[in-house]
Amino acid sequence: MKTVAFFDTKPYDKESFERYKSEDINIRFFENKLNADTVSMAACCDAVCAFVNDSIDSYVLEQLEKFGVGLITMRCAGYNNVDLKAARGRVKIARVPAYSPYAVAEHSMGMILLLNRKLHRAYIRTRDHNFSLEGLTGFDLYGKTVGIIGTGKIGRSFADICRGFGMNILGFDPYPTDEFCGKYVSLDELLSQSDIISLHCPLTKENLHLINNETIEKMKKGVFIINTSRGKLIDTQALINGLKSGRVGAAGLDVYEEETELFFEDFSEEIIKDDTLSTLISMPNVIVTSHQAFLTREALDAIAQTTIKNLEDYFSGSELENEVVI
Ligand code: NAI
Repeated sequence: MKTVAFFDTKPYDKESFERYKSEDINIRFFENKLNADTVSMAACCDAVCAFVNDSIDSYVLEQLEKFGVGLITMRCAGYNNVDLKAARGRVKIARVPAYSPYAVAEHSMGMILLLNRKLHRAYIRTRDHNFSLEGLTGFDLYGKTVGIIGTGKIGRSFADICRGFGMNILGFDPYPTDEFCGKYVSLDELLSQSDIISLHCPLTKENLHLINNETIEKMKKGVFIINTSRGKLIDTQALINGLKSGRVGAAGLDVYEEETELFFEDFSEEIIKDDTLSTLISMPNVIVTSHQAFLTREALDAIAQTTIKNLEDYFSGSELENEVVI
């Protein structure tokens, strides 16, 4: 029997892994995030399963190697929180490359509809028996231009949804594909022509703060910015400047630069010390969701199935199909 330490788990993780568990694998569920302080919890384990906000730095990797942990399998597609250089030759990294692009794409469109038609405000108003329509005017999505940065699985699924709304679809991706239903343009063209810009690329060293003061300056006045990818793609202070000046008309953020210590946890009884996040949340034209775009039953089932397969492949010595090549 092999033992695997699952970090940063929530009740919904336990439910889905319970459905797809393997007889040969003993899962130890921990609520703690994996980091330098908690890595010792993986001692005596054969593998580790981690998530988006775990800090898998060189120290953590060194410790895991010492404990004999040979695999970290991520319960997500992204692996920007893993020091890949330090992992090389020490610990194998695997991931779930795709679980439900529809879940994330649909959440992105959900945020656009909510922000444009001000559903978040209408919901609160009618609960207070305020039936005024003042300030709730939106615009037709039909005929508007959406710019999609990153036309991989999620970006293409989002493009298909936008096509259903009759939108003009622009895309920017260093690796264009015929499967994208829109028109490829340069990044500058996308920035200057789009009414809505949605980010669907991974976070890399090269695109850190892709959305910054300079790129926001190139955008149409009143542009909507949607980010369901990774928080650090946006320089948050630049976004706030854009929102304050009116250059940015609205922002839908499922991810946030400094989300690690906050997202997925309940701080409703506490004072949040992150003034930047508080400023964003206070704005009527901003919606923040706490990295929930993936959270559908179908996605959780697919994550559990692929993660168990990754572990079985590794323990049986089969080819690790979902290994991150480093
Ligand atoms: P994918 O690998 O299928 O597609 C990513 C695309 O981005 C590729 O076509 C790639 O060529 C392109 N790309 C890379 N660098 C770029 C750049 N600088 N500018 C424009 N395009 C660039 O990945 P997938 O499955 O579509 O996921 C996209 C991202 O969504 C993930 O990397 C992850 O950060 C995020 N994500 C967020 C979730 C959430 O719950 N909020 C859940 C799942 C993924």
